[in-house]
Amino acid sequence: MGLKIIGTGCGLPGKIVTNNDLAAIMDTSDEWISQRTGIRQRRILSGSETLLELSAEAAAGALQDAGASPEEIDLLIVTTVGGDYKTPSMSCLLAGELGINCITLDINMACCGFVYALNAANAYLGADMAKKILIVSAEALSRLTDWTDRSTCVLFGDAAAAVVLEQADSAPVFSMELRGKDGWEHLHAARGTDNCPFNDFENNGFLRMDGQDIYKFAVSSITARIHEILNTCSLSIDDIDTVLLHQANLRIIKGAVTRFGSPEKFPHNIENYGNTSSASVPLLLHETKDRFRPGDKLILCAFGAGLASAACLLKW
Ligand code: ACO
Repeated sequence: MGLKIIGTGCGLPGKIVTNNDLAAIMDTSDEWISQRTGIRQRRILSGSETLLELSAEAAAGALQDAGASPEEIDLLIVTTVGGDYKTPSMSCLLAGELGINCITLDINMACCGFVYALNAANAYLGADMAKKILIVSAEALSRLTDWTDRSTCVLFGDAAAAVVLEQADSAPVFSMELRGKDGWEHLHAARGTDNCPFNDFENNGFLRMDGQDIYKFAVSSITARIHEILNTCSLSIDDIDTVLLHQANLRIIKGAVTRFGSPEKFPHNIENYGNTSSASVPLLLHETKDRFRPGDKLILCAFGAGLASAACLLKW
């Protein structure tokens, strides 16, 4: 037993923030951001917009695309580093919004969240504990970044993207690695200070990143994950039709292209959205799916906080 993606959708904030918009409020420039990262603009939640609204839009689009009704969903997984509320979870709130009464799970695996959700979904489908599963990856990194830290806040954007999965014959193949104690502090957001009188923890809770360490981790882990999948399946990159990489930096994507060749197999949309954490791979999938033919082999690959890296080979 395996899985098949039968529908995709997305929900994007209305507000577009260009590099020049950022240059107007902080010491940066379109030239610096676009040359170092490839990013030209990003979408940011604004006004009364919520992540739940984006998630519901993405979910509705994926359900419609799949020709499925909310009642058919047996499991709803939301991947996010932080929803609109600390509790209830985003998946609870989204289930309510969609009128779905099923098992709900939130997965907080940062940029690897979507691949982790595919892994969990595969187990549910394989055990016949679900026939149809909805995954929604919804991120609002604009709430987590320190807007006085130009080295991180220019990198991220907000978005939601969704897929509907059903049982199928072809089993996906995964390659996952968690480095754990080996370097997680290079990319983290601590919990914010609370008002408990019995502790003295103080932290503003913003995301902190050592860019160059993460850059090296990204390039090496992408290479390792893709090689592991190819070796496991006795395939070469020539057998793969499309590689959907986490969109963190165009230079990282180009680094992968240099290692594996075939730039046409590595689409990107980071120009328009920046790094949307776990939403980036399903958003790219949604935007590029018209080029896939039935039976195409896709590799989805992400890296991020943990430090974690995860890849999945699946058949379209
Ligand atoms: N505008 C202008 N100058 C800036 C900016 C900015 N926005 N940010 C930093 N600078 C300056 C620095 O202050 C530094 O100045 P100095 O030389 O006078 O000290 C200079 O630019 C170079 O800074 P570096 O940090 O060395 O720049 P680098 O080339 O490493 O690029 C970047 C930084 C883009 C963050 C890069 O390291 C990177 O992409 N790393 C990987 C990040 C990543 O992949 N994250 C993904 C995981 S996170 C997640 O997905 C949730």
